[in-house]
Amino acid sequence: NIGNSTNILWHECPVQNRDRQQLLQQKGCVIWLTGLSGSGKSTIACALSQSLHSKGKLTYILDGDNIRHGLNRDLSFRAEDRSENIRRIGEVAKLFADAGIICITSLISPYQKDRDACRALLPEGSFIEVFIDVPLHVCEARDPKGLYKLARAGKIKGFTGIDDPYEPPRGCEIVLQQKGSDCKSPKDMAEIVISYLEKSGHLK
Ligand code: PPS
Repeated sequence: NIGNSTNILWHECPVQNRDRQQLLQQKGCVIWLTGLSGSGKSTIACALSQSLHSKGKLTYILDGDNIRHGLNRDLSFRAEDRSENIRRIGEVAKLFADAGIICITSLISPYQKDRDACRALLPEGSFIEVFIDVPLHVCEARDPKGLYKLARAGKIKGFTGIDDPYEPPRGCEIVLQQKGSDCKSPKDMAEIVISYLEKSGHLK
């Protein structure tokens, strides 16, 4: 689907994805972290990036907060704008994966249909959805940016988990739980993702 564009043809280059994979000794993919605000997505993304980097693997993080400072600065938190935020980041992530990079996205991405649409952009097996499963009361107790407090006071409208929905993934590749006594460190959680990547042949 090329939207409103007409008279546009695809241009191929002889240097292809497999050549880049060969060069980098890794298979590009998208690791899509999803979860509530304060669930630890950005921290886990960093731990994962650091650990892969130390193994000589090329990664890049697309973080929702950061991208909303630039590419997506025109978008609000209304449902349509969240969908557009996720669509654009999905498209950018697809380019990174095609470049051979292990692209880690860190977005709330609250709606299943938006995550599914991003999955559909990628080749089979290259979209790895990771649910950071931390209950709302834990995220709210952490409240690292004080936003839950503002949302509860009605000073932020449409805050995910408070007065805007979060749809937990159905059938995602990995669930990282932070519940009760099951308290893993970001590094431990990164290792779970890395062992998945090893088994799925992304690290060659
Ligand atoms: S989304 O839903 O995927 O488009 O959101 P995302 O781009 O990841 O941005 C989430 C961060 O924006 C801050 N923020 C809000 N989050 C949820 N709902 C509302 N209304 C909102 N307003 C601002 C919040 O700090 C999120 O950061 P994280 O890193 O997830 O805590």
